[in-house]
Amino acid sequence: MKPKQIVELILTNKPRIPVIPQATAFAPANIALCKYWGKRNNELNLPVTDSLSIALANKGATTTISISQLQHDEVKLNGELIATETEFAKRLSLFLDLFRTPHQYFSIDTSSNIPIAAGLASSASGFAALVKALNDLFNWQLTPTALSILARLGSGSACRSLWNGLVKWHAGRRADGMDSFAEPLPYQWSELRIGLLLVSSAKKTISSREAMQRSVNTSKFYAVWSRQVEEDLRNLEIALQNHYFHLLGKAAEANALAMHAIMHTSDPVIFYSQPQTIELMHKIWDLRANGLPVYFTQDAGPNLKLLFLQSDEAVVRESFPNIEIIAP
Ligand code: PMV
Repeated sequence: MKPKQIVELILTNKPRIPVIPQATAFAPANIALCKYWGKRNNELNLPVTDSLSIALANKGATTTISISQLQHDEVKLNGELIATETEFAKRLSLFLDLFRTPHQYFSIDTSSNIPIAAGLASSASGFAALVKALNDLFNWQLTPTALSILARLGSGSACRSLWNGLVKWHAGRRADGMDSFAEPLPYQWSELRIGLLLVSSAKKTISSREAMQRSVNTSKFYAVWSRQVEEDLRNLEIALQNHYFHLLGKAAEANALAMHAIMHTSDPVIFYSQPQTIELMHKIWDLRANGLPVYFTQDAGPNLKLLFLQSDEAVVRESFPNIEIIAP
């Protein structure tokens, strides 16, 4: 099935004319503790494995959508009009093609309070906010599951950005992906903290879409990824249920390192870390060896996200003066 057919299926008997002049929605960014890396269907963004994430509370994207009077979509990013031929605007318009009726164009105003395309999950919150805003503009009244499936068509990890807190994306088995959506997990852990260590906010050299495809096709290590995920997910859920912080940190860090090991063994090699990324890793390991319970995770970029508990916030801040701390 094609993405357009999935959308038609979900929007059967739903209004296709806006009921309000404009709609605005926010969606949080999410950081995967167990990563999504590799697809079983490229067009529908269907993953090989389940994944588990934590939302970044008020860090994310706010998107306003309305009908444009022009004969093309208008895209504003952080207050600036974006040329239609840029990759950003094209990707957005291709996604909107799934929803528009003939000659219907949209005006999109999106702002993000996280660095765009720096491996800080900006596309995830962007597509999730857009889908929520479309739902409101047309008064579709879709279920969170349906919204998660629609967001997934924009960017895989976007299906996890519909909720705050801990979220699990079920890979699903169906060819049409109707069983591949995310769901909030019932665990609460208010003492958990995430620290953003920004190494660079420059645009990534290779998109996660391209990188995960290359990993699946060329890394011999990809064969063990499903087993790694299974083990990490099991440990993460035990850790989240019982508030075992060391188990959580260990599983999340191992999972990120395994994902990067797959990238490092891809051909051509995919290497997102910068020298400063590696330096920070050594610093984290040193601090941990000296008794500070702090772990990291890393996505498709050079930045690190620290995992620690509220009780260690002061020491972490002292060790990393430029850190941005989020209480998810
Ligand atoms: O949704 P995408 O195509 O941006 O891929 C996200 C990939 C990672 O951020 C590296 C992992 C994840 O699960 O978020």
